[in-house]
Amino acid sequence: MRRFSPRSLLSAIALSLVIFIIIFIFNHQSPNEVEPVQEKCNCPPVVETASVINKSTIVKQEVSNITKPETTPVPTTKPTTSSSSSSTIPPLPPCQPVDKNSSVQRAIIIYYPHHQGEYFFPEVRWLYRSWAEMLLSQPSTWRTDFVIFTYNFSAEFRSLGCVNRVRQNKQEPSVCRLFLYIPIQFRTPNLTSNNFEHAFTAAKNLAKVYNESVEQMVTIPVVNDSKTFDVKRSQLLYNVLRTYGYIDSINTIYEGYHTFSMYDFVLRTDIDVFIYRHFGKYIPQNCTLLTGGGGYGTDFNRRKLARISRDMGFAFSGMSGMGSTWYGSAHDGYLVANQTLYGMLWLAQYEFATPERESKLGTLMWPEWHYGVLLLYGQHLAINHLVGTNQIRVVIGHNLLDQSSTDASQAYVQNGIRLNLHCWHTNDRFSKFAFKLGHYNQTDLEKYRNDTTAQAYAMRMALESKYMTLEQMANLVRTNSSTASS
Ligand SMILES: *[C@@H]1O[C@H](CO)[C@@H](O)[C@H](O)[C@H]1NC(C)=O
Ligand SMILES: *[C@@H]1O[C@H](CO)[C@@H](O)[C@H](O)[C@H]1NC(C)=O
Ligand SMILES: *[C@@H]1O[C@H](CO)[C@@H](O)[C@H](O)[C@H]1NC(C)=O
Ligand SMILES: *[C@@H]1O[C@H](CO)[C@@H](O)[C@H](O)[C@H]1NC(C)=O
Ligand SMILES: *[C@@H]1O[C@H](CO)[C@@H](O)[C@H](O)[C@H]1NC(C)=O
Ligand SMILES: *[C@@H]1O[C@H](CO)[C@@H](O)[C@H](O)[C@H]1NC(C)=O
Ligand SMILES: *[C@@H]1O[C@H](CO)[C@@H](O)[C@H](O)[C@H]1NC(C)=O
Ligand SMILES: *[C@@H]1O[C@H](CO)[C@@H](O)[C@H](O)[C@H]1NC(C)=O
Ligand SMILES: *[C@@H]1O[C@H](CO)[C@@H](O)[C@H](O)[C@H]1NC(C)=O
Ligand SMILES: *[C@@H]1O[C@H](CO)[C@@H](O)[C@H](O)[C@H]1NC(C)=O
Ligand SMILES: *[C@@H]1O[C@H](CO)[C@@H](O)[C@H](O)[C@H]1NC(C)=O
Ligand SMILES: *[C@@H]1O[C@H](CO)[C@@H](O)[C@H](O)[C@H]1NC(C)=O
Repeated sequence: MRRFSPRSLLSAIALSLVIFIIIFIFNHQSPNEVEPVQEKCNCPPVVETASVINKSTIVKQEVSNITKPETTPVPTTKPTTSSSSSSTIPPLPPCQPVDKNSSVQRAIIIYYPHHQGEYFFPEVRWLYRSWAEMLLSQPSTWRTDFVIFTYNFSAEFRSLGCVNRVRQNKQEPSVCRLFLYIPIQFRTPNLTSNNFEHAFTAAKNLAKVYNESVEQMVTIPVVNDSKTFDVKRSQLLYNVLRTYGYIDSINTIYEGYHTFSMYDFVLRTDIDVFIYRHFGKYIPQNCTLLTGGGGYGTDFNRRKLARISRDMGFAFSGMSGMGSTWYGSAHDGYLVANQTLYGMLWLAQYEFATPERESKLGTLMWPEWHYGVLLLYGQHLAINHLVGTNQIRVVIGHNLLDQSSTDASQAYVQNGIRLNLHCWHTNDRFSKFAFKLGHYNQTDLEKYRNDTTAQAYAMRMALESKYMTLEQMANLVRTNSSTASS
């Protein structure tokens, strides 16, 4: 039976409120990104791990010296946990770089909210299309799977050729894999009871319809694996963070670790991105985890987060401005996800008041202290701790990850190694809003055919994914992903 603690009541109230997410990505390249604009975005009150670019906020940040980060150094501290009484930090784990000439194994990982498919499936289509495009530039010995965590292996994903199987060896062609994952918000007592006994009943019934072996079905969480499942934390996430849309995109990287631990590198990404060709040949160097850039770091926030990290007994290494896209080893991703969950739970419980959590303040406090970017704050604490305790190496890839999907200059794509393009909340082409409203058509597809800019790449990938059938896209991957040789 359902328990009604005060917290669950509050969370239930919060469920009905719109959560504005205001993540924006640093953009240093293109002056036209800084023009003041923006209607209120009409995006649904949902899980969009997206990058809402509030251009007016960017402008303000750039002209105001108050928000300039460099003015005051943030104090850094050593971890102060009771357990770390001896203050010696172990050295960084030895770096054994992956040889680019070897058969590099990679995964592009997303969480897809199946219950909001109408909004998100178009994004899956264009991401899938760009993954297929990227596979054309990939060395023949490399493999890059498209890994999707979601709660229903629905017909669309079967048409896309996705399989519910973990990678068995390095020769299997690049393929789309779908793993069944129970989103936090659905972890009601009736689903979690008796070790999630009934959580996959619907999926099993569906598998029978498709004549698939129910025994081999890959489901998450794995309740008897203490490395990837903590029943108390799962419960706490449900109680505290089930209305926070982005929680599953992090929790899957923790609870789903065993499904992707065999890859050399994983890209954790939002859905509203385009994999760019350069990704085909690029892997992080020197055992680093690359992140995109994230614009949440005012001086106020840096100080506050440094103070909070002391309260938590976390190390703080002075890094700031990390975005939510990660590209690095599977294990680094797992470590960051684990500590990010811990950080988010801490912040939600002890550093945000109820009206803030319920979005009653809207964006009033942004960019100083805003619940909508809890994920970035939690990740800030996590990465600083892991870097400060020598567990991982992190580099912010300002010119690598989360690049512009609106830039129309040749120079932009010719300079640098842009690995993925991320949609911003804008009406400039490529705009995901305009696209979803049907404002682009075949005429545009023709117009951009010979154009090699980032803008044209995004327009083409999105429009092609719209006009191709799912089977045609699956075929594109089948014929273009390297097959086992010899
Ligand atoms: C962007 O920020 C400005 C002021 O900071 C605010 O007036 C506007 O509503 C914000 N836009 C969105 C889309 O949140
Ligand atoms: C910000 O500071 C710089 C140097 O400290 C100064 O040149 C500039 O005029 C200041 N800008 C504003 C908007 O105050
Ligand atoms: C990788 O292969 C290329 C071409 O075969 C060769 O020139 C290069 O030295 C190799 N690199 C390593 C690290 O083996
Ligand atoms: C799951 O997918 C099946 C097959 O496409 C579909 O019939 C069913 O409605 C889906 N269930 C939910 C809850 O989305
Ligand atoms: C579990 O309980 C919730 C309400 O507590 C209900 O909405 C949901 O349908 C139930 N699920 C199943 C599988 O019985
Ligand atoms: C499953 O098997 C049955 C009996 O062999 C067959 O009639 C049915 O078409 C199969 N379903 C699918 C989706 O292949
Ligand atoms: C969990 O249980 C399954 C079957 O019940 C078993 O095959 C598996 O090895 C167990 N995993 C762990 C980590 O204990
Ligand atoms: C990797 O490390 C080497 C040696 O420290 C350095 O020369 C090189 O620039 C680094 N590469 C990157 C991409 O950071
Ligand atoms: C996960 O995070 C918790 C909380 O910080 C920590 O105690 C635990 O050791 C972490 N697990 C791993 C595998 O790093
Ligand atoms: C495409 O859209 C433009 C304007 O949005 C319109 O003029 C044109 O007729 C459309 N073309 C097709 C093929 O639908
Ligand atoms: C694209 O290039 C092809 C071959 O060079 C040419 O036939 C076609 O007219 C060009 N299309 C556009 C829209 O410029
Ligand atoms: C990629 O797939 C398409 C469609 O199946 C095919 O026409 C094309 O030749 C393939 N390209 C390569 C490089 O395999």
